[in-house]
Amino acid sequence: MPVGALSATVPRACPSVSVRARITSYRDVSHAAVWIRGPHGITDRPGRDPHMGSEHGPRSSPHRSDTTLRVNGKPHTLTVDHRRVLLDLLREDLDLTGAKKGCDHGQCGACTVLVDGRRVNSCLLLAVTLDGSDITTVEGLSGDGEDPHPLQRAFLERDAFQCGYCTPGQLCSAVGALAEAESGHPSHVTDPATPSGRPVALDRDEIRERLSGNLCRCGAYPRIVDAVEDVTGAGGT
Ligand code: FES
Ligand code: FES
Repeated sequence: MPVGALSATVPRACPSVSVRARITSYRDVSHAAVWIRGPHGITDRPGRDPHMGSEHGPRSSPHRSDTTLRVNGKPHTLTVDHRRVLLDLLREDLDLTGAKKGCDHGQCGACTVLVDGRRVNSCLLLAVTLDGSDITTVEGLSGDGEDPHPLQRAFLERDAFQCGYCTPGQLCSAVGALAEAESGHPSHVTDPATPSGRPVALDRDEIRERLSGNLCRCGAYPRIVDAVEDVTGAGGT
């Protein structure tokens, strides 16, 4: 078909309208949607349902399910939109803002929390899939007591942060990493001769490797390793 015939059958405006429509649609459904300020200064996203993770929202919907989570020892039953990720639920519905949103793509570790004792990137987990789980955030690391967790104390003593944005994730990740080593999980740098299932000793290389999923834009890495090493040297978490 001659080029002239094609352009005669397709209105010139159509391609650009179509591309714009695709971009709008992508933004609406994508996790990387552009964030905007809500009417009351609350960070919101276009088209967000105000009852998305509410404990008081409508309870019957094909897109929501009642979900019970035990967060820092306290049970919460929420009607959760199936698209709600754990990080947003913690920060926006439970006001637990310790876990931070860095990349929102599972790449920086700022959102790390513990689910049933294992560290996870909470920006990647759909909250509805965690029904019945135990969640520990940085706010719950010290338990009921006033005393900080040994790792929190070590971070303070070693001055293992600058802006502090990554610190809650670093702390939760370190707690998880110590538990993994204690239960014998090898890392990429663990000596293959290490007996299977036996606790893995954490030297600086092990600590660096096991915390490599937690980025620090301030470059506080040497002191973070110092702090974790202090706790492993003390033999406890
Ligand atoms: S915010 Fe979850 S990994 Fe970056
Ligand atoms: S202390 Fe600033 S990002 Fe780690």
